Amino acid sequence: MAAPDHWTLLEVLRYRLGLTGSKQGCDKGDCGACTVLIEGRPVLSCLTLAARCQGLRVTTIEGLMPAHRAAGGEGADPVQEAFDRCGALQCGFCQPGMILSARALLNESPSPTREEIRAALAGNLCRCTGYTQIVQAVELCLAEAVGAEPPAPAWAPEANPWKTAPPKTRRPGAEKPERPERPERKGEG
Ligand code: FES
Ligand code: FES
Repeated sequence: MAAPDHWTLLEVLRYRLGLTGSKQGCDKGDCGACTVLIEGRPVLSCLTLAARCQGLRVTTIEGLMPAHRAAGGEGADPVQEAFDRCGALQCGFCQPGMILSARALLNESPSPTREEIRAALAGNLCRCTGYTQIVQAVELCLAEAVGAEPPAPAWAPEANPWKTAPPKTRRPGAEKPERPERPERKGEG
């Protein structure tokens, strides 16, 4: 991939490769919207020269689900699925970076505390909503990874919806869930 020497990784991703999931927010290292993973670690692509990434594995938001499936999983990456289930639905500017920072944290640390989750996401700014459901999504993901009961969300403290709504995704190496048999319909056969 040819690009001028001074181009950042973000510029190459967006303007050479057409991968527009990584956002050009502040373009100066303040907002986290451009976060990608390099060899599994979160990096601000607006501050990273593309030339320094040659030969390294770069994962953008577009690559997260394919990477999960290539590793033997099904559906979306569990972090993406957890964001969806928790209603941690941010705008298209901040969400890709949030999800990748959360994925990087879970790759590194199997059981981070709530403070560590908040610290890992501190560089991903949302200018309009809050962070409660994002932290919940990471905690849901953590609990399901070890088969523990997920903490009830603040908006449903008694009727914990996560107990009765298992994820559609499947982690690499996890057994396939048994599907209930489809009842025979009249006239079939
Ligand atoms: S666009 Fe890179 S930190 Fe804001
Ligand atoms: S900046 Fe994306 S939801 Fe606030």
